[in-house]
Amino acid sequence: MASKSLNSNLADAKKAKEDEFYTQLPDIERELRHYKKHFKGKVVYCNCDDPRVSNFFHYFSYSLEELGLKRLIATCYKNQDADLFSRNNSEQAVFLEYSGDKNRNMVPDPSEIGVQPLKGDGDFRSPESIELLKQADIVVTNPPFSLFREFVTLLNKHDKKFLLVGNQNAITYKEVFRLIMENKLWLGHNNGDMKFRVPDSYPPRETRYWVDEEGNPWRSLGNACWFTNLDISKRHEDMVLYKTYTPEEYPTYANFDGIEVGRTEHIPADYKGAMGVPITFLDKYNPDQFEIIGNSRELGVPMSSIAEKGSFAQGGPRFYLPNGDGTYRRMYDRLVIRNKRL
Ligand SMILES: C[S@@+](CC[C@H](N)C(=O)[O-])C[C@H]1O[C@@H](n2cnc3c(N)ncnc32)[C@H](O)[C@@H]1O
Repeated sequence: MASKSLNSNLADAKKAKEDEFYTQLPDIERELRHYKKHFKGKVVYCNCDDPRVSNFFHYFSYSLEELGLKRLIATCYKNQDADLFSRNNSEQAVFLEYSGDKNRNMVPDPSEIGVQPLKGDGDFRSPESIELLKQADIVVTNPPFSLFREFVTLLNKHDKKFLLVGNQNAITYKEVFRLIMENKLWLGHNNGDMKFRVPDSYPPRETRYWVDEEGNPWRSLGNACWFTNLDISKRHEDMVLYKTYTPEEYPTYANFDGIEVGRTEHIPADYKGAMGVPITFLDKYNPDQFEIIGNSRELGVPMSSIAEKGSFAQGGPRFYLPNGDGTYRRMYDRLVIRNKRL
């Protein structure tokens, strides 16, 4: 076989998605303690998880008895780049099943974990993985960021419960936002900063990157989120609103009939109409208190239809506020909400 040119290797590297972010056990424990009642008698599937390195597999295999799980299944994706799996000793895609500590030594032993080879590469979209998905009640994992929308769409299609780590940016993906509007997906408890172990091959970065004392590279995300459709108490707690509306403090958008609320905690208690709020509002969202009407990407009228060219910064659909001198400033992505209690 002809060897690849340098250019084509570089092109491949560019195309390669940086999807290997390993979730840490303390983050999993901190989130999962809010969901324990959901797992009794259930089959959990970790479908983007090499059990040899996945802390999701570790968490569920060690807490199977405590949670009352019926069974744990995990599939390992056979990555084409061996270096990304430097801690693994096998290139074979496999799936594992564990249904409890048979010899009562309080530890999931290799003899108790059924390891079986997969015919394909363990892709979560493959027929083999979908067969395993059908057997599961709840999917818990951190899926590849680059395939997040496809992942969520698949789980929804198969009507599965889920708890997933993702990036806050996913909130405005069309497929994800539709589920949020339909109250089929919401945020979990511990959203914000999360650190992840990454493969040695990932290039250093100026920020949110460090190497630990053992030489292992890490990255962190400031906007990691837990996405779920499992009910949690937080979702039924009203946000306390302590501000009152004034037109000066809450200006109306130029290209949408609604007011700008720059910070979630500043939502005025007495405003009945549409309000644009930051995406982080979702962290406090109680569907009995507020209704989500849409987002600025869908609802913002194109500025070109209402303002002179040059008076506003271009860059895709968003809301704009008048500066008062005939020009307009572009806002960050906004969710549009209405208070249901008024
Ligand atoms: C963000 S990492 C998280 C790994 C692990 N779930 C965890 O939380 O530590 C996503 C994982 O999905 C795997 N992956 C990538 N594409 C996949 C696919 N199409 N099907 C299944 N897994 C895939 C990657 O190899 C990677 O290990």
